[in-house]
Formats: sequence, C-alpha cells, structure tokens
Amino acid sequence: MRVIINSNYQQCAQWAAEYVAYKIKAAHPTKEKPFVMALPAGSTPLGMFEALISMFKKGKISFQNVVFFNMNEYVGLAPEDKNSFNYYLWDNFFQHIDIRKKNIHLLNGQTKDFMQECASYEKLIRSYGGIDLLIAGIGEDGHIAFNEPGSSLGSRTRVKALNRNTIRANARFFNNNENLVPKLVVTMGVATIMDADEVMLIATGDKKADAIRCAIEGSVNHMCPVSILQMHPHALIVCDEEATSKLQSDIVRYFNDNENTKFGRKI
Ligand code: GLP
Repeated sequence: MRVIINSNYQQCAQWAAEYVAYKIKAAHPTKEKPFVMALPAGSTPLGMFEALISMFKKGKISFQNVVFFNMNEYVGLAPEDKNSFNYYLWDNFFQHIDIRKKNIHLLNGQTKDFMQECASYEKLIRSYGGIDLLIAGIGEDGHIAFNEPGSSLGSRTRVKALNRNTIRANARFFNNNENLVPKLVVTMGVATIMDADEVMLIATGDKKADAIRCAIEGSVNHMCPVSILQMHPHALIVCDEEATSKLQSDIVRYFNDNENTKFGRKI
C-alpha cells in the first residue's frame, strides 16, 4: 500500500488529479483500447474534479478515450434528481470535459430489475477487460462505495441498505433531513472494487481519521470494509495530515520517508 500524505485538502486534490492524468497518458488509450475508470461521489473528490477540468481546459489532458463507471447510486432517485450520483457526476465533471457519452456507464437507481442491472453492470466492466483505475472515497465508518460495515468482503454489485451513521452523514445533501435520504442504494461490491487494477482512495479531514486508522492499521475485517485494501496489490491512499492524525507516528514517518525518495514515487 502507498500512502501519500499531503498538508491539506487542496494539495490532495491536485496530487490526485495529476496522478489520474499521468495514468491516462501512460496508458495511451485509444477508441479500441480505452482507459477504464470508476468514480466515487461525495464532497471529497470535488477538488480533484476541478483540477482535472482545469487541466483539460489548458489542453493538458483529454478524456475522449476514457470509459467511466460509477460506484454507487441511491435506489429510487432519477438521474435528474440533484441528489443522485448520476446528476452529481454530470454536474461536477462530465459536462465540463471531452467525454464520449457512450463511454459513460452509471448505475440506474430506478430500474425495475436490480438483479439484472447489477449482473449487466458487472458484465459490462468485464467486457472492457476490467477497471484500470478505481477512485474511491471513504465513509466515516470505514465504508467504501456503499459497502457498509458488515458487508461481505466477497460481495459484487448489489442493492444494500444504508446504516444510520451514513444516513446521518449524508443528510447534509438532503436539507439536513434524514427522512429524505433514501435507505436503499445500489453499489459495486467489495470484490468488484478489489478486481480493479489499481485503487486510489482519497480521504481528508479529521472526520476520516478513525476510518483511515482502521484502513491502514486495523486487521482486515468486514466491520471496516475499506480495510480490504490491505490485500490489494496496488492500493494508493491520498490523504491530508488531519486524516492521518490517529495513525501511529512511526507508520506516518515510514510513508513520508518513502514518498520523499524517488523509490516508490510513480510521478
Ligand atoms: C458516501 C458515498 C461514497 C463516498 C463517501 C464519502 O456515502 N457512498 O461514494 O466516498 O460516502 O463521502 P464524502 O467524500 O462526502 O465524505
């Protein structure tokens, strides 16, 4: 696992965006062999999206040969609903860049047949040869995508019920009214995430410090689903100092030392 510790949110956003651009360029994607990404929602990736949009506007990066999947969606919300993750990705990212519409694959929270929706999503990912770079956020309780504590670490894309912590945390997007937060979601499973060639997780702020401690220092456990990244051969955590505030000082020093030398640095 690589852990990149930046001083603040803005630096994390910039680092993550530069890494994404580096990975896309290094893959030399074409129409026939596109670069495949999966994207999260939430407030954390917004700075990275802004930085990527700015790089695109300066002509430094193109997304024409990039395929996008999303990680999760609320059950029952239409794509036009401002709280849907569908709307979120179009509003904050896709509408500002040179994507091809046919390269965008977002989970449908309004389907009548979720079994079918989830099975075809998995199939579609496989048809591209899998995800090259999956970007994830992290819940305060250690969830990844919408895989809540207690989720099977072998799970695939499916419908899940949210727990009370997540409903409370996400109420800020629903007029601070917990009753308006959908209770069901459709989400990539933990095993779906683990199948990606590389997983980059972004975590910022004190609120994520407990989850980051579980992710890095805890044992692999379904009570902290994100801890599964310890088993991933290419897991990269991009975080700020606040998010590392509950880690042991020697592990923080270890990551800082290694990322300060050329060894291990990929960009
Ligand atoms: C949500 C979403 C995730 C997101 C996470 C963190 O519940 N399911 O996609 O990564 O929680 O959100 P935020 O970045 O707003 O803290």
